[in-house]
Amino acid sequence: MKKILVATQKPFAPAAVESIKQIVEAAGFEFELYEKYAEQTDFVKAVETANALIIRSDKVTKEVIEAAKNLEIVVRAGAGYDNVDLEAATAKGVVVMNTPGQNSNAVAELAIGMMVFLARNSFNGSAGTELKGKTLGIHAYGNVGRYVANIAKGFGMKVYAFDPYVKKKVMKKDKVKAVKSAEKLYAKCQYVSLHIPANEQTKESIDYKLLSLMPKNAVLVNTARKEVINEADMIKLMAERTDFSYISDIAPNNKADFEQFEGRFLFTPKKMGAQTSDNLIFE
Ligand code: 3PG
Repeated sequence: MKKILVATQKPFAPAAVESIKQIVEAAGFEFELYEKYAEQTDFVKAVETANALIIRSDKVTKEVIEAAKNLEIVVRAGAGYDNVDLEAATAKGVVVMNTPGQNSNAVAELAIGMMVFLARNSFNGSAGTELKGKTLGIHAYGNVGRYVANIAKGFGMKVYAFDPYVKKKVMKKDKVKAVKSAEKLYAKCQYVSLHIPANEQTKESIDYKLLSLMPKNAVLVNTARKEVINEADMIKLMAERTDFSYISDIAPNNKADFEQFEGRFLFTPKKMGAQTSDNLIFE
């Protein structure tokens, strides 16, 4: 009997696991659950007899793919698939799928929520600022970007977007102004919300040159991936510009280097943008 292994270091909601189990067993497959593993080496061992893998941010490296001798398919429950070695999967004829859009609203609400939290000085009792009338740039107009734009319009923000893969008319229909380059977006917008994937083209692409273009009281919101940020550049810029803030759902590699920017560097203790109790899979 072919085995479907749900391998998630960050577990799904118990109800979601139960539904997956029922579907898998009704289809005549064996179901196995492997959660909260401590080390990558444990994950490598666990996949050995799996025919299919259902994962979250779990790292499906070449080593994992080679260890799973019978592997046919990997399903990444989520949008970003930068945690899967596509080259290694292709070489072994393993299909890789994701579930784009399923957790987008949760991420978008967090992005806006973090903006409000920062604008109101972390709710510390002092007078902050409002989002109404401010410019917001959506960097990549995919599922999450579209939700962020929609919520931001409700706040009365002026919303712009840059995405070379999305037609201008799609943005126009949403009453979002399309700009022609990332440079133009960053130069125009006080707030920029990042929704680009992490890949060879985007890694460390958010650098000093781009960030320097942002206007006074700039805020970069990152609910995407830490790998797209050039951290050394970000630290340099934040040291030079005391009006620049960085809020993120993904802690940087060197948290200690950011501690000097108290009040204008905020990050969640755990990457949780996609996870709410209204979202069955990720409860
Ligand atoms: C995604 O790419 O869908 C999100 O980043 C969710 O990732 P997670 O499985 O780590 O919550």
